[in-house]
Amino acid sequence: MADIEGADIERAGRDGRTPKRRVAVLISGGGSNLQALLDAAAAPDYPAEIALVVSNVAGVHGLDRAAKAGVPTVTLPHRDFDDRAAFEAAIAENLASNAIDLICLAGFMRILTADFVRAWEGRMLNIHPSLLPAFKGRDVQARALAAGVKISGCTVHLVTADLDDGPIVAQAAVPVAADDTVASLSARILAEEHRLYPRALAWLAAGALKVADGQVQLTGAVTSSERLQSPGI
Ligand code: GAR
Repeated sequence: MADIEGADIERAGRDGRTPKRRVAVLISGGGSNLQALLDAAAAPDYPAEIALVVSNVAGVHGLDRAAKAGVPTVTLPHRDFDDRAAFEAAIAENLASNAIDLICLAGFMRILTADFVRAWEGRMLNIHPSLLPAFKGRDVQARALAAGVKISGCTVHLVTADLDDGPIVAQAAVPVAADDTVASLSARILAEEHRLYPRALAWLAAGALKVADGQVQLTGAVTSSERLQSPGI
């Protein structure tokens, strides 16, 4: 995992005058996390701008959210491509032509190949609706309920070739109620996702994340109150 060096902090500072990091958000659905990122990026001092939204599913609400915010969108239905490599080549082409610096996976339900992931190592975040490393993969909330966990939550992590396995950037916990359903637990977790993801992207975009021995460290650019809101950092 590449370290993100001090030069990045200078290049993408938080004063609104230094260039913002150009972010592509990859989605497959409703895009409520995309909305949280769009809302955060509307602030003049946010160190990133949402420059492109890519969906592998046509007609999803996330595409409407992007259009409403004036962000260019591209729909690349994965079934239109011969194989995963061709699908990812089309994504890569759009990322290059839009001069994208960073990627946020936000409910993007396709597994990316090791080659694609390697090309974006240290520059791609994912959000997952569990406290990783518990409950990787799909049907997360149903599996958490079936396991009888009393606390669940969400995780933002840097993406590595292993599914839902990269260095953890930030986590938020929520209680699980005895009468929770998949819908009620998902909604409680989503509210935390919307709080956590913009903060984690800001850290990455501002060059405040470093990875050492597979673990994320935050640099001095992150205030102590921000640290307190992300336990463990
Ligand atoms: C979110 O809960 C996100 O964590 C999850 O899909 C939902 C997307 O919601 N992602 C995954 O499960 C990926 N493994 P959204 O489209 O409203 O942002």
